[in-house]
Amino acid sequence: MASLASTLSCTISRLNLFAELSLNHHSIRIYRTLSSKLRPMNSLYHRRVFKSSFPSTTIKSTTSNCSKNTSLKPVYDDNLVVLGIETSCDDTAAAVVRSNGEILSQVVSSQADLLVKYGGVAPKMAEEAHSQVIDQVVQDALDKANLTEADLSAVAVTIGPGLSLCLRVGVQKARKVAAIHQLPIVNVHHMEAHALVARLCERDLQFPFLALLISGGHNLLVLARDLGDYLQLGTTIDDAIGEAYDKSAKWLGLDLRRSGGAAIEELAQRGDSHSVKFSVPMKQHKDCNFSYAGLKTQVKLAIESKNIDGGVPFSSASIEDQGQRADIAASFQRVAVLHLEERCERAVQWALEIEPSIKHLVVSGGVASNQYVRARLHEVVGRNSLQLICPPPSLCTDNGVMIAWTGIENFRLGRFDPPPPVIEPEDCQIDLRPRWPLGEEYGKGRSVARSMKTARIHPSLTSLTQHQRQ
Ligand code: KG4
Ligand code: ZN
Repeated sequence: MASLASTLSCTISRLNLFAELSLNHHSIRIYRTLSSKLRPMNSLYHRRVFKSSFPSTTIKSTTSNCSKNTSLKPVYDDNLVVLGIETSCDDTAAAVVRSNGEILSQVVSSQADLLVKYGGVAPKMAEEAHSQVIDQVVQDALDKANLTEADLSAVAVTIGPGLSLCLRVGVQKARKVAAIHQLPIVNVHHMEAHALVARLCERDLQFPFLALLISGGHNLLVLARDLGDYLQLGTTIDDAIGEAYDKSAKWLGLDLRRSGGAAIEELAQRGDSHSVKFSVPMKQHKDCNFSYAGLKTQVKLAIESKNIDGGVPFSSASIEDQGQRADIAASFQRVAVLHLEERCERAVQWALEIEPSIKHLVVSGGVASNQYVRARLHEVVGRNSLQLICPPPSLCTDNGVMIAWTGIENFRLGRFDPPPPVIEPEDCQIDLRPRWPLGEEYGKGRSVARSMKTARIHPSLTSLTQHQRQ
């Protein structure tokens, strides 16, 4: 017994040194079991000061243990089971994924009714809606996977970018689960997750690859050089394409319950895509940046010039009016996607100059679930002898699987935090990164207009990864 006790305490003290040790899944599980038996949970890591592997300007580095160290050594165990939690915008999502790529469960609760009511995401309402369903969504994900928290290896959660009120709900839930069940926690960058889920779908996809990430808030062209290492070739100088889809759908009186993008995609099939003359944005800028604010305005003007009343739902409009709305939807979509095509064409050239070995263009994010977008980008990669990888639509729009998978990828490299204390100290400032760039800007792609808007943002994931490697 005495020797068992000494073995146990030795295991615990060794495992407390997250920074110096290479942990495997098995040792973490032993640690959880033993530590819960031998110490009160909230005394774990007591008075240890940890240095986060992703240093944050928002962290107060005191003994409060809000932010902990991460092990920097790879974990080679390939039998990990990770719970992923996502609440960065208007979807409350959770999923359980195994490190062999098996999706054990996936649950998404969307705020469609709120979207319809407010015509967009209202942060306070969205926060409330997340808070109401988060426990159930996580429980459903575990139940569907036929697992309990005790079977998990880690919890992964989106800490940014996104709406801070919303991010907080997911992060608090993740920390609670991780604390009670003594699980390591992986902080995830939402846009990295959109890109990396392609490696779950296409297990042969290796770095480096080019990625176009298109969602409601982001329009990114990045060269993915490695995990946590992205070179930003282009971004939007104003709105993202998803925002343009959403607003156009609202102004056209479409049913927003499935998302504005999906509604426009469907209506566009009935319209003439050359009937309304919209101009392609940023033709004169020979870079890879995007702009959708002007196209949005063009759509609004076209709607006004045809006397379309968006307050009248599409289904109640006259046949002639419906036809005009369909023409605007189709013309908008053609030009919006043409802008993507032109920027991608240039980005492929840039990416090949930087990394001649790239073979794939990954297209992900909510807008990538659009079949017209996929078909047009398929043409672009075909002309450049690359291969297009688009995750299935359910993994393009926000989901917990991409968070769990990114958690697995980071966990394997030892990029995780130890379990938080069960009782978080009052001065604990949770690490949330509402504005968090993914990569460093490529020199050729720098936009003067945009750099003026980037004053108060978090250091990019890539700069943090580089800092951690030094
Ligand atoms: O990635 P996502 O689910 O959430 C964000 O991170 O923003 O992307 C949401 C965006 C919304 O703007 C939505 O209208 C758009 O993706 N979207 C689509 C389609 N499905 C969703 N856009 C175009 N066509 C679609 N089928
Ligand atoms: Zn997203």
